Amino acid sequence: MLRSIAHLRNYSPRTTAVSASKKVRLLATCTRQIRGAQPSLSEANHDFTQFENFTKKLYTARPVAFWMDKILEKENKKSVNVPSPSLANQYEHVTVNKTMSDSYMEEFLPFKSSPKLLDEYITTGGKIRIGKILEDLDALAAAISCKHIDTFVAGPPMTVVTASVDRMELLMPNTVQDLKLSGHVAHVGKSSMEVFVKLETMPDYDPEVVEASAFPPSDFIAEPTSNTVLFARFTMVAIDSVTGQSVRVNPLVTRTDKEKRIAEYAKDCKAHKRLLGESDLSKAPPTEDERLMLHNIYMDYSKENKTSTASSTATVWMEDTKLQSVFLMQPQDRNIQNKVFGGYLMRRAYELAHATGSVYAKCPVNLLALDEIIFKKPVPVGSLLNLSSQVIYAQGDPHKSFQVSVAAEVTDVETGTMDLTNTFHFTLAAEDKPVPKILPKTYAESILYLEGKRKREQGVQAKEQLLSLMSTTLEDQ
Ligand SMILES: CC(C)(COP(=O)(O)OP(=O)(O)OC[C@H]1O[C@@H](n2cnc3c(N)ncnc32)[C@H](O)[C@@H]1OP(=O)(O)O)[C@@H](O)C(=O)NCCC(=O)NCCS
Repeated sequence: MLRSIAHLRNYSPRTTAVSASKKVRLLATCTRQIRGAQPSLSEANHDFTQFENFTKKLYTARPVAFWMDKILEKENKKSVNVPSPSLANQYEHVTVNKTMSDSYMEEFLPFKSSPKLLDEYITTGGKIRIGKILEDLDALAAAISCKHIDTFVAGPPMTVVTASVDRMELLMPNTVQDLKLSGHVAHVGKSSMEVFVKLETMPDYDPEVVEASAFPPSDFIAEPTSNTVLFARFTMVAIDSVTGQSVRVNPLVTRTDKEKRIAEYAKDCKAHKRLLGESDLSKAPPTEDERLMLHNIYMDYSKENKTSTASSTATVWMEDTKLQSVFLMQPQDRNIQNKVFGGYLMRRAYELAHATGSVYAKCPVNLLALDEIIFKKPVPVGSLLNLSSQVIYAQGDPHKSFQVSVAAEVTDVETGTMDLTNTFHFTLAAEDKPVPKILPKTYAESILYLEGKRKREQGVQAKEQLLSLMSTTLEDQ
């Protein structure tokens, strides 16, 4: 049981010497409950409980090495707390069959029942800060995948990184409610894991009832239900923490029809993503229809140019929606690799996208979905993170929704070089009025516009797919 999800950030299967009495004390002071942060193994043919530290293990995140050690390491010119490559090579990499329930974890966010917790998440508008929920989701997905890769025996030091967040649908309630976050590994490749995470309302949340109930619950599968308010798919990759190379993960065994169905859905999503990647506008030119549409926009643009020099209430130039922010990456937001943790980047990008959307829509806006985010390169601690955001697609009146993209670039302060690490795409909607249509001016902006349009259409398709999965689940209940 952990005091805060912040402890999950430096995720890695770790053995800690937390005594039973300390755990109870932590539980007594916490504002949330996390279940499943310790090993669980349903395969009867493995008896790993014989290992002395098995029951003391927490998939958690005390900083692996203090940042101060890094500073001393630099000053003393010798490594501190860093496993040597020769040590990594002396272990054989074994794998253990795992089930979906083996990696299952759940966390309760009782916003309605805990004013203290609510205060950490509340916005000025009295809603829950989605950016903080994004951080929690990433930390939970990382802890789940660490639980899956754990083989319970000494092996090469491994960790996980977020490779991508594939799609996130939001149906957040307008009122403050008690919420439950849960998830498990739904499909594995060689070194990658598809982790499904969902957020649900808990109308009858009672910590004592939760504590006394079976773990994992019988309905643990991460399929959306009528209480689901957010559903997300993460791809996590296991890497060797010494060499940084991807490593083979434990195979996933499916047992029930439900498990087979969710694994099949995860596999389909992965294949669909690969297919979409092939027609990406960075690899292939726009289609014939898209070229025609761009020409029509050009005609609109010429008309607009003659009648007005600035954005009007019906149309806004894409370039007029830009916002930027710069952050220095601090050690407190690092993961085990001493790189900045993915959830932190998502929160920062979302908060800028939200600000961009509010300025453009001139009214409160809500997040509807988060489209694919690819974490191409790690963001080092100490670097400068430049976030540039703009509205790239909006159909205009009577539509209220629009697409915002945020580009994350890292500046190396020593060399001054800049590197694109991720592009985030968010679908937002104005609360109470239609938004102006977005017009691109340059060819580069037209490509962004097409990208936004494609994301919008893919989003509608993904939502339909999800709703159909949801109706199958509800029929089964
Ligand atoms: C994720 C990362 C390790 C992949 O590196 P890579 O050189 O592509 O690695 P590999 O080619 O060995 O691929 C490893 C696996 O990752 C998968 N993968 C890589 N990029 C992916 C993406 N964008 N989406 C989904 N899966 C991806 C590959 O399909 C492969 O899967 P498999 O082994 O199951 O077949 C690398 O891109 C990285 O370090 N990114 C930054 C991660 C980060 O900083 N995240 C935020 C902080 S945690």
